Amino acid sequence: MNMEAALKDFLLRIEHYKEKYEPLDEQQESDLSFMKIYNTGEKVVVHKHEGHIQSRIVYYLMNIHITPRTIYLTRHGESEQNVQGRIGGDSSLSPRGRSYGSALSNYICQQDIPGLRVWTSWLRRTIQTVEGIPAPQERWKALNEIDAGICEEMTYEEIQERFPEDFAARDQSKFTYRYPRGESYEDLVARLEPVIMELERQGNVLVVSHQAVLRCLLAYFMDKSADELPYLHVPLHTIIKLTPVAYGCRVEHIKLPIDAVDTHRPKPKIPGTLEDRFKKEKKDNYLENCDGCC
Ligand code: F6P
Repeated sequence: MNMEAALKDFLLRIEHYKEKYEPLDEQQESDLSFMKIYNTGEKVVVHKHEGHIQSRIVYYLMNIHITPRTIYLTRHGESEQNVQGRIGGDSSLSPRGRSYGSALSNYICQQDIPGLRVWTSWLRRTIQTVEGIPAPQERWKALNEIDAGICEEMTYEEIQERFPEDFAARDQSKFTYRYPRGESYEDLVARLEPVIMELERQGNVLVVSHQAVLRCLLAYFMDKSADELPYLHVPLHTIIKLTPVAYGCRVEHIKLPIDAVDTHRPKPKIPGTLEDRFKKEKKDNYLENCDGCC
């Protein structure tokens, strides 16, 4: 549709609305709470605002915009601890992780994205991943990986051995389970609220973060439930491109051709059990025979 036709169609739509609806009125509906947003945020009227939830809604609606833009999400390149199957920590990139950093930088440069900003966590592996990207960068502590508390830097097998009850409890309710002296996915969602709010305000952004954190951001943009969220697939060495469209987001996965370990642990049929590939002996075997399928 050309611009003239689109505008005509849009104005007609407003005329149809006028036939069916009437505006809320501050005098006639003086006892109601409502909000009016003029010209997609140019002016905002908040009438009889009451309480915490309403102020959160007002704050949210004041921050969103409808200007087209793209959000790129990716995990850091493969880290030394990813290769060892250890969770958390603050290790550096593996040689394959460094290659991903270069490939990511080439991809981003080729795209020539106007006004791109790059956000990372405070952890070494995300900062190293974006070293070569010539765009303004910001570090967010809120983008750090889930804090696994007493299980930090252990393998899943070690957690199963040392804390079998905790390991099974997490499988039973992964969203709400909180690592002793650490965090749950539910905590993570709360920690990420300011990040989401600021993402809503921004134009084009590349967010380089971690498996659990990116699951939360993806769940927000893709409207996934708390049960689905902790199992969303966010593989290493893959860029997830989100383009807001009417009533949702278009999601594209761009896998760059550099092998990496697979850190995704699906929900087991029996809570507390572990797939062979996460067991030490089997893991070494799996890595040796890995043909890049992961
Ligand atoms: O294994 C990589 C990692 O980013 C860990 O640091 C983190 O604890 C884990 O993924 C989160 O995934 P899950 O919640 O499935 O254990």
